[in-house]
Amino acid sequence: MKLNNAITIDGPVASGKTTVGKELAEKLGFQFLDTGVMYRAVTLAVLEAGIDPGDEDTVSEKAEKICIDIYPPSKNDGRQYDVFLDGVDATWSIREDRVRDNVSLVSTYHRVRQAMTAKQRAIGLRGNIVMVGRDIGTVVLPDAAYKFFLIASVEERAKRRFLETRQSGKKTDLAEIQRSLEERDKIDSSRKLAPLKAAQDAIMIDTNDKSISQVVEEILSHVKEG
Ligand code: DC
Repeated sequence: MKLNNAITIDGPVASGKTTVGKELAEKLGFQFLDTGVMYRAVTLAVLEAGIDPGDEDTVSEKAEKICIDIYPPSKNDGRQYDVFLDGVDATWSIREDRVRDNVSLVSTYHRVRQAMTAKQRAIGLRGNIVMVGRDIGTVVLPDAAYKFFLIASVEERAKRRFLETRQSGKKTDLAEIQRSLEERDKIDSSRKLAPLKAAQDAIMIDTNDKSISQVVEEILSHVKEG
């Protein structure tokens, strides 16, 4: 049976999923879940505990034990939501470079994915949800009625991430961003389990020359038609 009130948005790094998904959820009065946050939280917990991200068993044990909570934003400091890791505000620390550089590896582990997928599915099945990630349309909510896959060139995505980072006041380098983005895309798309891939029934949206609102409107037009 189709999950009528569930919308999935998948796509590579910096394809616009999070901003588009959040705006879409607000317009529809739906809950929004950015699943990347969960894999980032696991990675942060691993690094904070001094665990080697390459040690699959110990990383998996950690992933199965930690408590991740996501709430609407409590502060007006640019955050899109609050992320708590074992009761501590980790909203900004999950964005650190050390997390970015290890999250794709941690996300390849079977038990890590199993633990995160179970949490995501439990939230998704409650309905009225926009969920974004890499495998939401294919693995987490394959019965969702509306599935979208966002694409954009690597140059465009690197430029977006560069501008975002610069705006937040951090020092940044376009070439380094592009290199890291390509590396993560490669790991995310080539992993054996739940790789980054469009579901067969997903609608592809090229976001290259479109604003966030244009992409949101395009998605809404499909949802309204359906
Ligand atoms: O969307 P993001 O860049 O915050 O995601 C961080 C990492 O988490 C990404 O490189 C791969 C992983 N991820 C995943 O494997 N499956 C998801 N559904 C979401 C994210």
